[in-house]
Amino acid sequence: MKVARVTLSDRASAGIYEDRSGPEIERVWTEHGGGTAEWERVLIADDRAAIESTLRRLCDAASCDLVLTTGGTGPAPRDVTPEATRAVLERELPGFGEIMRVQSFAKVPTAILSRATAGTRGRTLIVNLPGNPRAIGECLPLLLPAIREALRHLRGE
Ligand code: MTE
Repeated sequence: MKVARVTLSDRASAGIYEDRSGPEIERVWTEHGGGTAEWERVLIADDRAAIESTLRRLCDAASCDLVLTTGGTGPAPRDVTPEATRAVLERELPGFGEIMRVQSFAKVPTAILSRATAGTRGRTLIVNLPGNPRAIGECLPLLLPAIREALRHLRGE
């Protein structure tokens, strides 16, 4: 299985701070039985055109089964991940964002600030995660059963 993890952050991509969310995706994925994956690792700024072209490349040219993004889902002016994601999706799967917000809200009242979404482009599943490294561990395990099932459907099983 080919999985891309894409960190969207102006400051991490400029080297102002270290990207902790991208590596955290791999750690949580492995710890929660995501399985063996060939990882493609991307770190780019919160630039809508760059995000869209990266997502298109990962789906169409790199043929990733799954693309997990982190960051850029909030209400700040530079947060454009959901818009860039929707622009490349063929079908949206709104349940991923809905369940992250509902489940996280019990622990973190600011969880409702994330506009994360998900969906499919061709045979690739794209899922947005919030940018806080702690949010990866709070959200990704909840989504893994549905991610596995969606990947089976996309493979035509
Ligand atoms: N969800 C979880 N589970 N844990 C968190 O710490 N942070 C929230 C929210 N969702 C958070 C969370 C906050 S403070 C913001 S602003 C939004 O995610 C968007 O974050 P992003 O722009 O880094 O994606």
